Order: sequence, then structure tokens, then C-alpha cells
Amino acid sequence: MLEFINVSKQFESQPDPIHVLKNISFSIGNGEFVAIMGPSGSGKSTLLGIAAGLDRPDSGVVSLDGIDITKENESTLATMRLNKIGFIFQNFQLLPGMNAIENIGIPLYLKSGFSEKEINDKALGLLKSISMDHRANHFPKQLSGGEEQRIAIARAFINDPKIIFADEPTANLDSKNSNVVLDLLLERNKKLKTTLVIVTHDPQVAKLADRILTMRDGEILTPKQTPAKKKKRK
Ligand SMILES: Nc1ncnc2c1ncn2[C@@H]1O[C@H](COP(=O)(O)OP(=O)(O)OP(=O)(O)O)[C@@H](O)[C@H]1O
Ligand SMILES: [Mg+2]
Repeated sequence: MLEFINVSKQFESQPDPIHVLKNISFSIGNGEFVAIMGPSGSGKSTLLGIAAGLDRPDSGVVSLDGIDITKENESTLATMRLNKIGFIFQNFQLLPGMNAIENIGIPLYLKSGFSEKEINDKALGLLKSISMDHRANHFPKQLSGGEEQRIAIARAFINDPKIIFADEPTANLDSKNSNVVLDLLLERNKKLKTTLVIVTHDPQVAKLADRILTMRDGEILTPKQTPAKKKKRK
């Protein structure tokens, strides 16, 4: 379970600091699919980064499976991310010096215990699932935005995380590829019980979620805990 208790975050700015998260509390159960919506600048990406231990709040508790990750050091957080978390960044964050298949394999190279062949086979399987195997040896700068996005999504899948955070994962995709990506995310959620936390502006994505959290100006507007309403495609 992921739980935020009274989490606040501000960024220094002139003339006044920006309060990006204002005393936020909510929880997300294992296996839930939650969509986070809200206007640009309302704090969605900041919230997601803090939830995944990529950023730290100024105050409050962020508990993942009962552990307050705000108290953990960087190396423990890195190990936790490798073992439990898949993260799809709003700006992809692919490594420019690595080709598509290598970028997808990064989490397993870092995790150790996997042979190069195992990593390659798994990365190739994921490339096929996103119809990108013909681009295996292409570097990020040779890919379109939508192709980069699909590679970033495959990279988030490769360690079979129990929770996936995705920041606008369909923003750069046409409707066909958007559906491919959504189907892959939903399949993980349904078959593997992967928890999905997806920031999206896309009502088509949000309507597939069990629950929507709406952010406005650093706060969450919708009820913090409602019974999961099962409304899934397929
Ligand atoms: N590192 C930073 N330093 C200063 N201000 C920041 C920083 N990161 C974010 N902000 C500010 O915090 C606010 C929230 O940013 P955030 O990226 O969380 O918004 P968002 O809801 O994800 O928006 P979008 O829908 O445009 O992606 C914005 O006003 C942004 O300018
Ligand atoms: Mg954002």
C-alpha cells in the first residue's frame, strides 16, 4: 500500500516560495489503478516523484508497504526502486548513448543476477509487445517522441514492478499506440495485480481507472478514499 500523510513540499522562488504540495493525505491499495488529474502546475509530477522516492517532501510521511521512504537513504531508495517500482517519466529520460534495447534493459543491468542474454531476451520481448522490435538498435535521438515514450514504458516493465508510476504515458502517442500502451498497462494491472498510478490529462485513460484523484493548486479535491469502482475495459 502507498500512503501519503500530511505531505508538504515547497520550492524556493522569488518573491515567495511555491507551495507545490499542501498537506496532502491519501492512500492507494495494492492492485488499484488510480488516475491523477488536474491542471498544469497543480503538483502532479511533484507528487509522483515523491511517491517513488525520487524526490523528498519537506514534511509528512510517505509510506510504501509500511516503510516511511522519507527516512531512507539514497542507496536504500535506489534498491527499492529496482525491486518494486516502475517509473515512466513525463520527458522519458532515456540515456542518449544507449540504443532502444539497452535502454529497456537498464534496470536489470543495475539489479545484477541476470545474464546479458536473459536481459536481451526480455527486452526484445517487451520491444515486440510495443511493436518496436525494428527499432532495437536505434538511439533515442533517432526515434520519434512517441517511439521514445514506448521505449520508456517498456523500461518501466522490465523489472516486473509491483507498482508503476506513469507521468502522462500516452501524451505523445497517436490513438492506436495509446491503446497499445493502455492495454499493456491494464494487462499488468489485471493479470499481475500491478498497482498503477497514472498522471493523465486524457479522459479516455482516466475512465479506465478504479478511482480518480483530482489535484488543484497543490491539494487533492476528490474524496481521499472511496471504494474501488471496478470499471475495466476487456
Ligand atoms: N525543481 C523545481 N523548482 C522550482 N519550482 C518547481 C520545481 N519543480 C516544479 N516546480 C513548480 O511546481 C509547480 C508544480 O509542478 P509540477 O511539475 O508538479 O506540475 P504538474 O501538475 O505536473 O504540471 P504539468 O501538467 O504541466 O506537467 C509548478 O508551478 C512548477 O513550476
Ligand atoms: Mg507534470
